[in-house]
Amino acid sequence: MNHDEFRNLGHQLIDWIADYRRDIAERPVRSRVEPGWVRQQFDQEPPTTPDDPQAVLDDLERVIVPGLSQFQHPGYYAFFPANASLASVLGDIAGAGLGAVGLNWEAAPALTELEELTCDWFRQLVGLDPKWQGSIHDTASTACLVATLCARERASDFALNRGGLRDGPPLTMYASGQAHSSVEKAMLLADIGRDHIRMIERDESFRMDTDKLAEAMARDRDQGLVPAAVIASVGATGTAAIDSVAKIVEIAQTYGAWVHVDAAMAGSAMLLEEYRPLWQGVEEADSVSINAHKWFGTVFDCSLLYVREPQHLIRVMSTNPSYLRTHRADDVTQLRDWGIALGRRFRALKLLFHLRLDGADAIRERIRRDLDNAAWLRDQIEAAEHWTLTAPPSLQTLCMRHEPPEADGSPLTGEALDAHTLAWVETLNASGKAYLTPTVLDGRWTGRVSIGAEPTERGDVETLWQAMQQAVTG
Ligand SMILES: Cc1ncc(COP(=O)(O)O)c(C=O)c1O
Repeated sequence: MNHDEFRNLGHQLIDWIADYRRDIAERPVRSRVEPGWVRQQFDQEPPTTPDDPQAVLDDLERVIVPGLSQFQHPGYYAFFPANASLASVLGDIAGAGLGAVGLNWEAAPALTELEELTCDWFRQLVGLDPKWQGSIHDTASTACLVATLCARERASDFALNRGGLRDGPPLTMYASGQAHSSVEKAMLLADIGRDHIRMIERDESFRMDTDKLAEAMARDRDQGLVPAAVIASVGATGTAAIDSVAKIVEIAQTYGAWVHVDAAMAGSAMLLEEYRPLWQGVEEADSVSINAHKWFGTVFDCSLLYVREPQHLIRVMSTNPSYLRTHRADDVTQLRDWGIALGRRFRALKLLFHLRLDGADAIRERIRRDLDNAAWLRDQIEAAEHWTLTAPPSLQTLCMRHEPPEADGSPLTGEALDAHTLAWVETLNASGKAYLTPTVLDGRWTGRVSIGAEPTERGDVETLWQAMQQAVTG
């Protein structure tokens, strides 16, 4: 592709994206394709000669859009808000166009310094103290793995410089049973081993039961194990429950255990000063991760990891082979030593474009709107006959069930209730108007609405509530 062809096709592509976003509400939210259909639409042999550029673009509409659920749709209430502001999309395109790789400061000073700057902007926006220093990772899963590796090395006094973990007493790690699956995965990848991973029971509000945490840590220490880390969930995935960070820190500090705060989705609420008491104690934690690529609205992937002691992180992650050494070593940041990957995408650019072109005020306003919309839907559910909230509403996440009586007047329970819940959610999803992902709480299926897609206004939530009420009638 030469420059003129790029320019021509690029203009068409931008036009297409703008139209796609503008008209997205006309599409079904959940993809309707059958498994294998997308693949069958393409030649199974790799192209050897250039294809018609128009045909490549046309396939976006013909195959690729139908083959996706529409995360940017106003009727999207699934998983978590995964917004992709158009301003940040431009930043991502700019980053790809520049084609730079952040191997070290010298290779890409702008990449390094804008990552430092945008992480510091974001830190200020969520009200963290200047002592926190951030870097951008692909996902919160990676950020959590980095944090657990830091915890492991602190607790084992740098076993990686000796024979690894097999030399010392086993380490233990703790998280709420409601924590995201990436937390357990990080502990497993950090070689903690299932026998030494404790998923702590929940309290009545789906937060980690901190009495149970204290008991588990004391028991482990009494048995000669070394409590190494506690992961606190600020916004657990199912219910958005917020663990008591202050209490967790207090308990963990008795053992010198690392505290990582996983605020992947809910951390964006901390842009609103009035919500910051929810993560009280965070300043005493060791690391915090927040996904700018969720509710905040920077296009995937953009997960920010903050640490209080970068020198510890660097000591865990640094290798420093000769081919990466440069004459500028001591007075610059080498972000390769802040995480797992060597090669670094210019992710800061999408955060920079997002913040400069949209501004934090508009992002705050949108987050407030979503919280108000969730409060409105909560009120409708509470007031409606046979509807019940299955967990205390937290931020923009609501869990609910429709529990109609059986024909004989007895309550619908057990598997029949599960079947009813899954049926109305499926009816709603199949309608194309909305997309919900149900979840299991205490062994029973529950409906779940995660509000916060960028175009979702009050009218859309009203439409959702009407559609939910229709869906339960079959
Ligand atoms: C609380 C929480 N932690 C971690 C993750 C994992 O995020 P990522 O996809 O960035 O790894 C999620 C995503 O759903 C989440 O909600």
